[in-house]
Amino acid sequence: MLINGAHYNSVSYIPPDSEKPEAIRIIDQRFLPFQLIFRDLSTPEEVVTAIKDMLVRGAPLIGVTAAFGLVFALNVNQDKVCDGYIEETAQKILNARPTAVNTEYCIGRVLTAIKQHDNLEDQKIAALKTALDLLEEDKIICRQIGENGLGIIEEISQRKGKVNILTHCNAGWLACVDYGTVTSIIYKAQQAGIDLHVWVDETRPKNQGARLTVWELSQNGVDNTLITDNAGGHLMQKGLVDILLVGCDRVTQDGDVANKIGTYLKALAAWDNKIPFYVALPSSTIDWQMKNGLQNTPIENRDESEVKYVEGWCENEIKSVLITDINANVVNPGFDVTPAKYVTGLITERGVCQANREGITSLFPEMI
Ligand code: MRU
Repeated sequence: MLINGAHYNSVSYIPPDSEKPEAIRIIDQRFLPFQLIFRDLSTPEEVVTAIKDMLVRGAPLIGVTAAFGLVFALNVNQDKVCDGYIEETAQKILNARPTAVNTEYCIGRVLTAIKQHDNLEDQKIAALKTALDLLEEDKIICRQIGENGLGIIEEISQRKGKVNILTHCNAGWLACVDYGTVTSIIYKAQQAGIDLHVWVDETRPKNQGARLTVWELSQNGVDNTLITDNAGGHLMQKGLVDILLVGCDRVTQDGDVANKIGTYLKALAAWDNKIPFYVALPSSTIDWQMKNGLQNTPIENRDESEVKYVEGWCENEIKSVLITDINANVVNPGFDVTPAKYVTGLITERGVCQANREGITSLFPEMI
């Protein structure tokens, strides 16, 4: 999608040359929207740090970045590769952020490709091909999600004119390779000439809404308004929200949805106000093994500093300020689980379905 009118992907592959090893070029999202900084990652360690410290974030982008982490792991010396090093590296990448199941999917695809070969050169070729496939597939899948979600927005628009969408966190192109999941639907609706406006939750504590979604939508010409996380329920009661569209990090086979902390409260408010609550996702976000998301979803606990301090732009740099007692007790769960009963539907690359086993099976009969 667009930054200052030019097209970018959130991650791209840089082949090796005489001076530098192969790498991926990412946007360091910790600096947005204030500075556009690109970084090249070329080792598995750099990939782990980039995922953990959220230089890259969002389930699909974490997955694709993770895949390249294994590609880079094959560049270390032969001994290490033989010594269970690849599996160990895979585990470190998986542990970096445990809630997004896309990482397991992408790592699994690369490991399977590697295991089909015995010699290192063939393994390297297979791993790179798979990682590049995953990168390209993500773009296609996100585009399809947009196409499949368009009808829902069209229906609201035909019924009432301007469509007011509320979203949480960033399920945009910055969280994927291109288009996004939620934003793919928004961009499709925009292209179709639908009059729309997006309420963007700031999304404490990391403020992905305030820092990433507002910037992303504005760069792509979508009318949007930033709100505090607490404002959504009030706006819904006042009739100012027509639909909620959120992304997700893991959906169980029964349709429970793990997404950024605070999503559940939005779903409750939407339910009370009879407003449709849709979740957009690639099928790599479905955990085909898991039932009962409330009991079983691994919820990432992040550092207390994210809650105690707020980051902002001051005197030409990002600064962090303490906003509570330095000794305050803090817990900082990164995600919550919205039970399937509050989800109006899942918007996937194969179409829209109900958030339950029957609905998911109807679109992906080969998986369950
Ligand atoms: O902590 P983040 O920024 O990685 O959380 C991102 C989200 O919760 C997104 O909604 C989710 O990953 C889907 S992105 C298409």
